[in-house]
Amino acid sequence: MRSETPVRFDEQREMWDIFRYEDVDRVLKDHDAFTARRTREDNEFSSDAENDTGMFQTMITADPPEHNRLRGFVDERFQPGSIREYQPRVEAVTEDVLDTLVGEEQFDFVDEFAIPFPVTVIAELLDIPAERRDQFKAWSDALIARPKNGTRMEIQQIQQERQQAQQEMRDYFGKLVAERRGGDGDDFITLAANAEELSREEKVGFCILLLLAGNITTTNLLTNAIWSLEEQGLTDTVRTGEIGRKQAIEEVLRYRSPVQSLTRIAIADIELNGKQIQAGDVVTLWLGAANRDPEVFDAPEEFRPERRPNRHMAFGMGVHFCLGAHLARMEADVAMQHLLERFDRLDANLSNLDPLYSLYGLKSLPCEVNRTA
Ligand code: HEM
Repeated sequence: MRSETPVRFDEQREMWDIFRYEDVDRVLKDHDAFTARRTREDNEFSSDAENDTGMFQTMITADPPEHNRLRGFVDERFQPGSIREYQPRVEAVTEDVLDTLVGEEQFDFVDEFAIPFPVTVIAELLDIPAERRDQFKAWSDALIARPKNGTRMEIQQIQQERQQAQQEMRDYFGKLVAERRGGDGDDFITLAANAEELSREEKVGFCILLLLAGNITTTNLLTNAIWSLEEQGLTDTVRTGEIGRKQAIEEVLRYRSPVQSLTRIAIADIELNGKQIQAGDVVTLWLGAANRDPEVFDAPEEFRPERRPNRHMAFGMGVHFCLGAHLARMEADVAMQHLLERFDRLDANLSNLDPLYSLYGLKSLPCEVNRTA
């Protein structure tokens, strides 16, 4: 599709698909022609709900200059300098999660590590008791649930559960934002609570967005990393440092991008690669396809951690470039380091893979380990 129909209209889904790096890049940077707002009302599942609180305006569905107001107050706290300060806390969380595996020789990497680890990191940064993490997971699941067979009953049930989760999150974070207003804590809830440029709803929306945007994505990055290294026979090469962890993680982001697609809506008539897109049309931007575009990457179908530069778009592009990109990279680096230190053998069983495609990862990944002495 990238070479034959790089920009195509899918009659069934009634939206455009865009596959080439250059085109995806152009759409993501052109805020005058494409909006991140979710305005199409005829399809309740058209939004990127995993990144969408579905209730309050947040940065992810705002265009400039509104976007600057909603992101500006927190941008600094996600820059590399600030992220380095969180590293000791992230290391402690990694050790805590690994401690729950003591004595196990076999475990499911997804359930036992890749899910609890990022949820606990976010809970730590929001200064919320880690015990709430099962609740967080349940809320996130309800918000990103998609119909499997599309029956009316199934859709109704998903909607009901989504509304309930939204209500519970709104109550939970609303209370915390009110309690922490005027406080001097260094957590993200206090930061939002004290941001004068945000309304009360926007403060709550920000907390919910952090929870939704940073969990499943990071879970999938970690899972895709263990999966890809095992598949390529590179786990021990990364362990010995022959291949740098950070470089390997960048290549996982390109090769198995956790977010495969993004959505925008045209707000002007525009020609793209010879096709006429009209105001009001929905476009799906295939990051996964762009990240394997041969115009940009040599041998794109090969996993090559030594790639430099590695200009992948796994974190998006333009003003909405992932707020948590540096945090996610640091989390993955710390997690890999500690996993490889704890276990002198880490074998993932790839015989029965069951991938998830909306956000690309695996439902489970059985692992066998030997603990270092
Ligand atoms: C935005 C991917 C981790 C918070 C985005 C976007 C992508 C993305 C593709 C762009 C969305 C768009 O343009 O519509 C990822 C991946 C991650 C990850 C692959 C992990 C491997 C995180 C983490 C956090 C986070 C850990 C926070 C704790 C956000 C926020 C936005 C965002 C707040 C919206 C930024 C804006 O609209 O200005 N992410 N993300 N993400 N991400 Fe991430």
